[in-house]
Parts: sequence; structure tokens; C-alpha cells
Amino acid sequence: GRTAVVIPAAGRGVRLGPGAPKALRPLGGVPMLVHAVRAMARSTSVGPIVVVAPADDVPGVRSLLDGHPLPDRVTLRVVPGGDTRQESVRLGLAAVGDPDVDVVLVHDAARPLVPVATVDAVVAAVRAGAPAVVPALPVTDTVKQVAPAAGRGPEDPEPVVATPARASLRAVQTPQGFDRAVLTAAHDAATDGAGDPGDPAGATDCAGLVERRGVPVVLVRGHEEAFKVTRPLDLLLAEAVLARRSV
Ligand code: CTP
Ligand code: MG
Repeated sequence: GRTAVVIPAAGRGVRLGPGAPKALRPLGGVPMLVHAVRAMARSTSVGPIVVVAPADDVPGVRSLLDGHPLPDRVTLRVVPGGDTRQESVRLGLAAVGDPDVDVVLVHDAARPLVPVATVDAVVAAVRAGAPAVVPALPVTDTVKQVAPAAGRGPEDPEPVVATPARASLRAVQTPQGFDRAVLTAAHDAATDGAGDPGDPAGATDCAGLVERRGVPVVLVRGHEEAFKVTRPLDLLLAEAVLARRSV
């Protein structure tokens, strides 16, 4: 079977502040999305790539990507995204086509610097028989669980209800790798605004959706450079990592 990649890139990047959609912000002068596509195309296992673009800018994203050639084994589609990450991934999956694809990776455009070794490790674990594989790292901050936000303002002190043992916690990254049928079924069944920040019960990653359906999910070692560009400080870090690579 072949391995396809879905790259959700349709978010606005609200936490990054005003400006172009996050995936189109430059990093070392090249849009973050181009870095992310190249990072995935670097894995020799990858064939079809589906980029899920902001719905109002599909032609713009298409022509942007056409200006950055990829290896011949890679085919590229650009499709419009939805209002949540989950909806965007569902739309991307539906555009994979190719019946020979049996493994799908989902990779955030907002993780432009993921090393190829991480991509290859995820693919290898899925090919070895795991239906859902997620790269992850131990958390370095202690994490507190707080009471539900109802009735509290954003600046009000938050009551702590629990402190989960840090040693048992992992922070997850992408690419997350799946048996294609398992992932497609999970996304087709998800109608709950999963990933919507307004829905505290929503799954914020694909593996969460699959896990809820009783499918076993395993973690493999992630990489520090697979961090997500979310806030302005992350952009500074990404620029520094990129500069270090090119010396
Ligand atoms: N994403 C998407 N469609 C959406 C929302 C998010 O394709 N409706 C994508 C983003 O483009 C990003 C990935 O999902 O590559 C991870 O989401 P996140 O880091 O939250 O990006 P944004 O939603 O753009 O950022 P923010 O939440 O700060 O607005
Ligand atoms: Mg978001």
C-alpha cells in the first residue's frame, strides 16, 4: 500500500496575532506551509499529499505550492477547509482518492520543522501493525487541572481540582499516522465540533477521535523540532531553528 499525507492548513492563527493565515506566514522568507509540505515529502514513503487550505484562498495556495517543486513520487492536491481542524481533516481525507493508499498521516502546517526521522518512525510503527501512532514527548511543566470555566471571567483566579502525575503525561505532536479506514471512519462519525476551542469535550487531535471509538493508540518518541507554531514566541524559536540548520 501507499502512504498519503493530509496537511490541515486552513486555520487563521488567532493566537499568533493579526496578519495572514498562519500557514502562509513566512519562516526564513518561505511560507510555513511550504516548509511543512517539504518536510513530509522528504520521507520516501510519502506519495499523495492533500493540503487543506483556507476556503477563500485555494487558488492562491495552489499557485504558491506550484512555485516550490517536489519529488516526482509526490502528487499534490489543494482542497478547501472547514471551520474546525477536525472538519478540515475530514475534507482532506475525502480528497485522498487513490485506492492503493492504506496509511494516512495527518500533519499540522503549523509544525513546519518536523525532522524526517520522526515522520519515518510514525510510518514504520503503522506499517508494523499499529492502527494509530502519535509522536509525543514527556511534558516539562507540571500540569494542573482546573474547575470548569462556567461563571468565571478570563482574568479570575482558577480553582485547582487535581495535579496529574507529570511522569505519566505526554505532549503530542504530528504527524499522527493511521490505518486509513480507521481514521476515515472516526472522522465521518465526528459531528461534535471536535477541536473547537468552544467545546471542552471536543477532541483536539485525530488520535483523540480514534481513541474514543476504542481503537488502541500508541506513542512513539517525538522531536523537539516538531513543536507547533502557536504564539508569537514560537515564530522566533522557529526562525532560530531554521537559521541553525542552514549554517
Ligand atoms: N486548522 C485547519 N482548519 C481549521 C483550524 C485549524 O486546517 N478550521 C489547522 C491549522 O491551519 C493548523 C492545524 O490545524 O495547521 C493546528 O491548528 P492550530 O495550531 O490551532 O492553528 P489555528 O487554528 O490556525 O490557530 P489558532 O487556534 O490560534 O487560531
Ligand atoms: Mg486552532
